[in-house]
Amino acid sequence: MVTVATAERLRAACAQEISQYEHGHFHDRPWLREAFLAVPREAFVPDRVWWPHRSAEDGLFPLLDRAARPRQWLRAVYRARSPLITQIADGAILPDAPTDCADFTGSISCPAVVVDMLHHLDPQPGERILEIGTGTGYNTALLAVRVGAATVTSVEIDKTLAEHAAAALHAVVHVPQLVVADGEEGYPPGAPYDRIISTAAVRQVPQAWIDQVRPGGVILAPLDSPFQCDGLALLVADGHGGAGGAFVGAVDFMKTRGQREPRRYADLGWPTWAEHRITIEAGQQRIRTPS
Ligand SMILES: C[S@@+](CC[C@H](N)C(=O)[O-])C[C@H]1O[C@@H](n2cnc3c(N)ncnc32)[C@H](O)[C@@H]1O
Repeated sequence: MVTVATAERLRAACAQEISQYEHGHFHDRPWLREAFLAVPREAFVPDRVWWPHRSAEDGLFPLLDRAARPRQWLRAVYRARSPLITQIADGAILPDAPTDCADFTGSISCPAVVVDMLHHLDPQPGERILEIGTGTGYNTALLAVRVGAATVTSVEIDKTLAEHAAAALHAVVHVPQLVVADGEEGYPPGAPYDRIISTAAVRQVPQAWIDQVRPGGVILAPLDSPFQCDGLALLVADGHGGAGGAFVGAVDFMKTRGQREPRRYADLGWPTWAEHRITIEAGQQRIRTPS
């Protein structure tokens, strides 16, 4: 039987695994480990989700069904490096069977990435936080535990996903402000924010985010890259309509709805391949991009 104790044991084991990773994660963030252990991730995962890797047997994305195979479902919930797919093709594919369709439009991000992003966001108690992409509400819950629900706003574009998140949040924490809207526009009524986190990737950082974060405030967002992954961009607003920063990691997120269409990387400010310089001297390899 799957019990609360089983879930707690799996959560602790997952936390232990994440603790051993080198970069970001729980390091120097005791509050983050405590929040991770306090929030039951299983409360946010729908009863039927897809595993994000194709089965070797039939090539389909397997369906994990809590009622049919509760242990398998719960183990998947606490796999440190696996997201679970909560929506495909904007809900056109129902979660009632394995599927061939890889058009993932909703997920619960994997625990390791959730923790890593919160590490880099570094939210402080009482700060005003805007989250883009509520999804299941799991990351929102961790933010509410850390910051306090009163100053957290989370925006989700998909009404069905937002309703599921709201119900899960109600059961677990004090509920932050939840908004169904296009998060690329931020949420002006709550501005200025101390920190903005997006759990959907963008090809171009929306100006609204920069405009709605206070001078010196932080924007953390997956930014599409030419490297088959998103760079996790950590930006600081300059107070004059601009922002600057660096990449702090590599992640893989679904794009915001309005930025699904591919664009030319050159138009998005990326250096061309030829501009990256590779040198190897005395066995020391260096790769430089133009400054
Ligand atoms: C990777 S999922 C979020 C995962 C979530 N943080 C969690 O762990 O449950 C990305 C979410 O962003 C949402 N999304 C996509 N475009 C959006 C937009 N323009 N505004 C707000 N939410 C958006 C998707 O519907 C999806 O729920």
